[in-house]
Amino acid sequence: MSKRTVLTGITTTGAPHLGNYVGAIKPCILASHDADVQSYYFLADYHALVKNQDPERMRQSTLEIAATWLALGLDSERAVFYRQSDVPGNLELTWILTCSTALGLMNRAHAYKAAVQENVEAGEDPDFAITMGLFSYPVLMAADILMFNSTHVPVGKDQIQHLEMARDIAQRFNHHYGEHFVLPEAVVEDHVSVLPGRDGRKMSKSYNNTIPLWLPEKALRKAIMKIVTNSLEPGEPKDPDDSALFAIYAAFASQEQRESMRQAYREGIAWGQAKQQTFELINNELIQGRERYDALIAEPEHIEEALIDGAAKARAFATPFLAEIRAATGIRKLG
Ligand code: TRP
Repeated sequence: MSKRTVLTGITTTGAPHLGNYVGAIKPCILASHDADVQSYYFLADYHALVKNQDPERMRQSTLEIAATWLALGLDSERAVFYRQSDVPGNLELTWILTCSTALGLMNRAHAYKAAVQENVEAGEDPDFAITMGLFSYPVLMAADILMFNSTHVPVGKDQIQHLEMARDIAQRFNHHYGEHFVLPEAVVEDHVSVLPGRDGRKMSKSYNNTIPLWLPEKALRKAIMKIVTNSLEPGEPKDPDDSALFAIYAAFASQEQRESMRQAYREGIAWGQAKQQTFELINNELIQGRERYDALIAEPEHIEEALIDGAAKARAFATPFLAEIRAATGIRKLG
């Protein structure tokens, strides 16, 4: 078993945007075609439940994200693509791991601490409105990862602590019950997490500066025209390294295109023209996917079928592995 096992989860809390595409979806889809990698990609709907308690939004987000990955050419024969909630063993493993998780470790989780901090600042009780779901989130994530002997987990920087926790929990279990779990490693693609949004800050739902991935052509153009630039006139040299627009262009461009756009900035390309070229580049990359996406959304039963198939493959691995884990704890047949 020297093959790498790559696994990552996508929380189903909203519609995918260009930052998700560049940072996570595109690299994962490329990797799904690599014969030396066994990849698992899943829709983390139980994680989404922590933040998203609107049933219609939950369904819609799951649908849109699944359609996105399929439309963009995920190799779902090779990669296992599934919905977390279709592998119920995850929740069994979560409990088993919960019993190997130090409370103190969870108390140090950034997300929980940030929520407490906010409460304290607002003069509330420290745990005001914090659910056990938010608190235990890292254990569920550890279960996702450890269930498939994942070796590499591509995540954003904000998730590194969760990977450390997964290793910690695995080590504690292994120490007590024997070597059952593989210790996973976080894979953080640096250049990728910095795709700026329309205002120049990191593109993120929480900053409300995203450009949705599947805007119709006209709307996409409009959104790109709204990316914030400065007041330099056409003909005045512009600094590509101080421009959100350039960074967005660069994320979609080939090496060669990047260099010639760099040159054009120095030679004073007009912002309007730079925006038009950025639009054309991004639109060309998305045109085919957009057509497939629209077709898939119109026939959600195909998406459902793909997810059901994926879940069966995931369970084929997870179910026997979970039986091994359960047996290791002494929960096993008496006869
Ligand atoms: N918590 C991750 C995020 O918000 C999503 C996630 C859930 C995940 N389970 C996972 C990522 C397992 C990697 C592995 O981005």
